[in-house]
Amino acid sequence: MVDATEEAPEVKEVDQQIAELERQVKDVRSRKSVTLLTNLETDYRQTLAREQALRKAFEQQRGETLSQNEAAINYRIIQQEIDTNKTLLDSLLQRSKENDVIMASKPNNISIVDYAVTPDGPIGPNRSSTVSMALFLSLGLGVGLALLLEYFDDTLRSSEEVERLLQLPALGVIPSANASARRRLMGASGALQKRNGHSDSPELLMNVDGHSPLAEAYRHLRTSVLLSTAGRAPRSLLVTSSLPGEGKTTTAVNTAVSLAQTGASVVIIDADMRRPRLRSIFGLSDRAGLSSILSSDVSEADMLEMVSTDEATGLRVLTSGPIPPNPAELLGSDQMRRLMATLQSQFSHVVVDSPPVNSFTDGVLLSSMVDGVLLVVHGGKSSRHVVRRSRQLLHDVGAKIFGVVLNNVALQSHDYYYYQRYYGARNYKSDGDDDIEPTSHARRNGSHNTLDLN
Ligand SMILES: Nc1ncnc2c1ncn2[C@@H]1O[C@H](COP(=O)(O)OP(=O)(O)OP(=O)(O)O)[C@@H](O)[C@H]1O
Ligand SMILES: [Mg+2]
Repeated sequence: MVDATEEAPEVKEVDQQIAELERQVKDVRSRKSVTLLTNLETDYRQTLAREQALRKAFEQQRGETLSQNEAAINYRIIQQEIDTNKTLLDSLLQRSKENDVIMASKPNNISIVDYAVTPDGPIGPNRSSTVSMALFLSLGLGVGLALLLEYFDDTLRSSEEVERLLQLPALGVIPSANASARRRLMGASGALQKRNGHSDSPELLMNVDGHSPLAEAYRHLRTSVLLSTAGRAPRSLLVTSSLPGEGKTTTAVNTAVSLAQTGASVVIIDADMRRPRLRSIFGLSDRAGLSSILSSDVSEADMLEMVSTDEATGLRVLTSGPIPPNPAELLGSDQMRRLMATLQSQFSHVVVDSPPVNSFTDGVLLSSMVDGVLLVVHGGKSSRHVVRRSRQLLHDVGAKIFGVVLNNVALQSHDYYYYQRYYGARNYKSDGDDDIEPTSHARRNGSHNTLDLN
């Protein structure tokens, strides 16, 4: 029994063998399971790699299929275009054939006579001939236009034209006082005007610059006026024109001032009751004047009472007075004749400013009461026909026209250069008193000196 118990050596050996076997089994089992796991893992990885490769191949296939589809669509479109073009070509070919047939049936007389040869240089345009032609044409046109304008120019521009076309003496040519000359003259006249109390009066231009062509022109006009009646200087003078704005007032004022500068006593009457200006030019007060005298029976003393004195020029001024409704009636009255007689007995010269003769009868009525008439013509502007009509109106009433004053003549005129050359030079001692002394009046001093033209 002992031999059969666990303590028995045989049992112990068998147990050891069993344990050894069990350990071996366990060992084998564990080794097997590791091998299996490793195998399985390897399998798994291989399978995964295959799956990925398959997926990639699938994606590639799908992309290719899509691009093939697109190419197929494009191919179909191009195929359609080719078909259309083929149809078009067929129809064109057919038409060409038809044309050939038509052409073949008609006789053709066109043949090549000569072949074109390429020239060495440009054949046109011919620059020199074109330029010379243009030159001649423009020259011809310019000359033609100038002649045409000259032909249609109905104005009076020079003293020769006045004498030739109006048969009236040209007593003076007054140049146009341009803006800059006016500005200069105005500037120089500041002190004078303050002394005079005159406002800006362009009509008094000659006061301010004794050497200017303008002042010289008025001196020349004065000489002509004084010489216009044989034997003695004219005592009364009417200044008028055909149309408004030709320079009657300007001429009347400057002629009167220049006459006063010879020492003569001069009165200027504003008989232009349509547009009276003398009151504002001489800065006189708004008091009774010509219309007051003519509309009432005033005495000679009262008439003279209404004549104002311009201190600066020594000129006596009879303003128009309140504007009446019937100027022509008043101016044609006996009272006007009486007034003229009175003034002529008291003064050496009576200068009368008036409205235009072509518009109103006032000037025509007055012309018969004076020794003579100065007809002012706007140089280069007044029409010959209009001036001729004025001359006729004045002749019809027996007025004596001393002559024409060409006023506002453009600087380029020959007459202007005449003045520039002979009177304008500064070193030439211009002397208004060298002109004819019209009266035996002594040269007055005082206020007159302040306005000496020299
Ligand atoms: N020689 C001249 N140069 C430049 N301007 C001038 C000249 N003569 C006159 N004028 C200008 O022409 C305008 C008209 O002149 P003025 O008033 O003397 O004419 P008028 O004939 O008296 O006009 P109206 O018929 O209105 O009385 C004025 O502004 C004057 O200053
Ligand atoms: Mg006037």
